[in-house]
Amino acid sequence: MGKHDLGGFGAPFFYDFLFLLSFLVISTRCQDAEIIGILKNTINVPVSFEWTGQDICKWKHIVCDVSKRVKAIQIGNQNLQGTLPKELVMLTALTRFECQGNSLTGSFPYLSKSLQKFIIHDNNFNLFPQDFFKGMSSLQEVRIDDNPFSQWNIPSSLKDCVALQIFSAQSAGISGTIPDFFGRDGPFAGLVFLALSDNFLEGPLPASLSDSSIENLLVNGQNSNSKLNGTLWVLRRMRSLKQIWANGNAFTGPIPNLQQHDQLYDVNLRDNQLTGVVPPSLVALPNLKFVNLTNNLLQGSPPRFKIGVGVDNNMDKGRNQYCTNVAGQPCSPLVNLLLSIVEPLGYPLKLAQSWQGNDPCANRWTGIVCSGGNVSVINFQNMGLSGTICPCFASLTSVTKIFLANNDITGTVPNELASLPNLQELDVSNNHLYGKVPSFPKDVVFRYEGNPDIGKKVQQTQTSSKGNGNNSSIAVIIGVIVIVAILLVVVVGVLLLVKFRRKGKYAGKLQNLTTALVPPHYGDGNAAKISGGGHGEGNVSSLLSPTHSVYQGEASNMLISIQILREVTNNFSEENILGKGGFGTVYKGELHDGTKIAVKRMQSAGLVDQKGLSEFTAEIAVLTKVRHKNLVALLGFCLDGNERLLVYECMPQGALSKHLVDWKEAGLKPLEWKTRLSIALDVARGVEYLHGLAQQIFIHRDLKPSNILLGDDMHAKVSDFGLVRLAPEGKTSFQTRLAGTFGYMAPEYAATGRLTTKVDVYSFGVILMEMVTGRKALDDSLPEENIHLVTWFRKMLTNKDSFPTIIDPTIKLDEETLVSVNTVAGLAGHCCARDPYQRPDMSHVVNVLSPLVQVWKPLEPTVDEIYGIDFDMSLPEALQMWRHFEGSDNTFDLTSSSTHVNGNNAKSSVSATLSHAQ
Ligand SMILES: *[C@@H]1O[C@H](CO)[C@@H](O)[C@H](O)[C@H]1NC(C)=O
Ligand SMILES: *[C@@H]1O[C@H](CO)[C@@H](O)[C@H](O)[C@H]1NC(C)=O
Ligand SMILES: *[C@@H]1O[C@H](CO)[C@@H](O)[C@H](O)[C@H]1NC(C)=O
Repeated sequence: MGKHDLGGFGAPFFYDFLFLLSFLVISTRCQDAEIIGILKNTINVPVSFEWTGQDICKWKHIVCDVSKRVKAIQIGNQNLQGTLPKELVMLTALTRFECQGNSLTGSFPYLSKSLQKFIIHDNNFNLFPQDFFKGMSSLQEVRIDDNPFSQWNIPSSLKDCVALQIFSAQSAGISGTIPDFFGRDGPFAGLVFLALSDNFLEGPLPASLSDSSIENLLVNGQNSNSKLNGTLWVLRRMRSLKQIWANGNAFTGPIPNLQQHDQLYDVNLRDNQLTGVVPPSLVALPNLKFVNLTNNLLQGSPPRFKIGVGVDNNMDKGRNQYCTNVAGQPCSPLVNLLLSIVEPLGYPLKLAQSWQGNDPCANRWTGIVCSGGNVSVINFQNMGLSGTICPCFASLTSVTKIFLANNDITGTVPNELASLPNLQELDVSNNHLYGKVPSFPKDVVFRYEGNPDIGKKVQQTQTSSKGNGNNSSIAVIIGVIVIVAILLVVVVGVLLLVKFRRKGKYAGKLQNLTTALVPPHYGDGNAAKISGGGHGEGNVSSLLSPTHSVYQGEASNMLISIQILREVTNNFSEENILGKGGFGTVYKGELHDGTKIAVKRMQSAGLVDQKGLSEFTAEIAVLTKVRHKNLVALLGFCLDGNERLLVYECMPQGALSKHLVDWKEAGLKPLEWKTRLSIALDVARGVEYLHGLAQQIFIHRDLKPSNILLGDDMHAKVSDFGLVRLAPEGKTSFQTRLAGTFGYMAPEYAATGRLTTKVDVYSFGVILMEMVTGRKALDDSLPEENIHLVTWFRKMLTNKDSFPTIIDPTIKLDEETLVSVNTVAGLAGHCCARDPYQRPDMSHVVNVLSPLVQVWKPLEPTVDEIYGIDFDMSLPEALQMWRHFEGSDNTFDLTSSSTHVNGNNAKSSVSATLSHAQ
């Protein structure tokens, strides 16, 4: 004894030490009792607490640790009144303090630095100590909401709370700005909940919130005069977000791209001054449940959210600046063009305020001067604009004068502007433009004085232009680093470009073949052009990321070698044949990663077959541009000698025709009515998308059940785009060589060759008739007068008694179904109206069908989610995508690349696999 390891202490010292220690423990223990005693006197302790005996550790709502120190006080929701004594700070073992939901008053006392949970919301405390959080390194949870504290700022000592997970201080009298330490680089690695609503905060959302781990960010309803302001740009990289309430503030600018926000379910942005087009990524959020956008100045087409998403009444026109009040209805091409012009300028508030309606000329939009219904002058002078000049100005062919002087515009003057046919004057003076000046025709007056760097090749990196002398050497170093980084990026970019140019030796050829179908100003693919987005956060690292290279040059990376296609189709063996047609043969195949594909091998017909080649290129041109969950996706193609092959996603259930009319022969069950309905809606959506693409209108020309393919879940996709025609810009009707299928061809088209979108609407009507009746569009086995389905259907439809007899007998008719069948029959008749002008638009068809489908699937948001974000686009998203695709041909476009990456996961992983396999 006594010889045990006691370090340097002798046994007597050790016992002295123990004694001292126990004395301290006992005295602090006594002190704890004393302090609880004081607390008992400052609040109205109810009898039910049984705060009577000697041992406070036995009192209700008081919890002690093993050494009998008070560890927790939990007196929440007890109707307590009174104040808290400042002696509470001496409970040094306290880890948990809860007094929420009482009527306690006075100033809140300091508490122990060992505190972990601190819950005092819903009381009447009127003062919160500014340095309360100092040194509280164990604090995890703070809930101080709904107390009438006199105004205080979030102190920088909050940074001591490195364990913080929850900070909830709504209606807590907080003023000043949101400090910049809540982000990932700050001290709070584990902060997930930050609630600062209903305070007196002002200023911006700090940029440091970017990349934070915050899941719930509630900053709505600030009561200060200026409220929270600035843009919501930082949300773009808050990928952990589940809930964002920013409503009731003064935020401006557009809603940022939220495509990486897989968990986001609740978005409330109403009552701000947000402008711009609602990003497709918001509509496509896979887990979105609630969204509130009312009372902003949002522009473009009103978003159409998925079934099951709770939306506030943002359709109420006048509360936003949408171009129409029908969700999903596209804006006029001119509106779309003007919006894309102001996009890189950040959708200026001043413009958004007056840009109402769908006709810029009729509604006298600020900055836009019209003459005879065409835009003649753009006047954005002196508006404090920042951002860049959109190359898309070039599409505004009617413009004669563009005034952009006296702003803060950066970037270059796009070469495209020199191609404006009617341009007389362009004034960009007094901005921050740089780079080469385009060569305008001689008669164009081009003013550009007051842009120090214009004419110089690269923008001077002027980090210290306004700078303070002290930092100039740091600025030089940073400048050098930036230049080196940029050089590196350019070199890598050029290398990649060269590599892919080589790889895609047919890409150029293809491009030539397809330019006929692509608007000219989009077609000129200059060399590696680095165009930063308008938001100044150009992401250099994304350019260097290995995935990026895969997406440049849409066509070239979709090129697949014939060897690979031979491999995956078992050398085009008989067993792999899925179907045959006039166009060639379709084979099934499986890639190395298990992706099922369908390979369409066009009839090889030697050199003379110009028609086949043009259908082939047409199909590629269309399918590399259009993407929609209801259009069969093109995964790649192959052009090798006379071989022409197209590779699609596989649609295992085959063509609709098989299920609709030939089901007996194919050994299938007849389709249930609700399946027919949802197929019809899928098709309608696919076609609506084709018809509504921005300034381009695609017409399918050959809609019929054999061109509608079904997936395993019986969702339908439109296929076969070989006959698709792109309406010439600005024209909705034009003449072509006749093509299509008898029985589905609109009469005016058959008679005159005049092609409009209504030709597809007619064919769609015939398909609906087939769905209702279960019979073919042309049935030679019937008596002469009944061969033609449309004629027969019209005749029977007009007669109430005969109509029920034409309904497909395999449809189980209950009352509800009958109503639904009747509606669809009516719609079918409407679609097949003789006069094309009397046929509805596809968007009308979608509007009629979707409620019918919903009746059967009341709350099934997953319906639209089956394909993931990928193809889940409403029309406005599609428009956005379209723009991105068009803008990004063969260029390194930073803004569009991100859309690409996420918009096409399925496709790109396949093409990546394929190109690696080569
Ligand atoms: C935001 O509000 C502050 C006042 O709190 C003001 O100084 C600042 O200019 C505003 N910023 C913007 C972008 O409106
Ligand atoms: C929209 O916001 C209002 C108030 O801000 C709220 O009452 C309503 O429930 C919200 N709607 C949805 C669908 O979240
Ligand atoms: C407006 O533009 C269209 C198409 O460019 C043209 O046909 C028409 O003549 C123009 N109107 C006027 C008044 O310039």
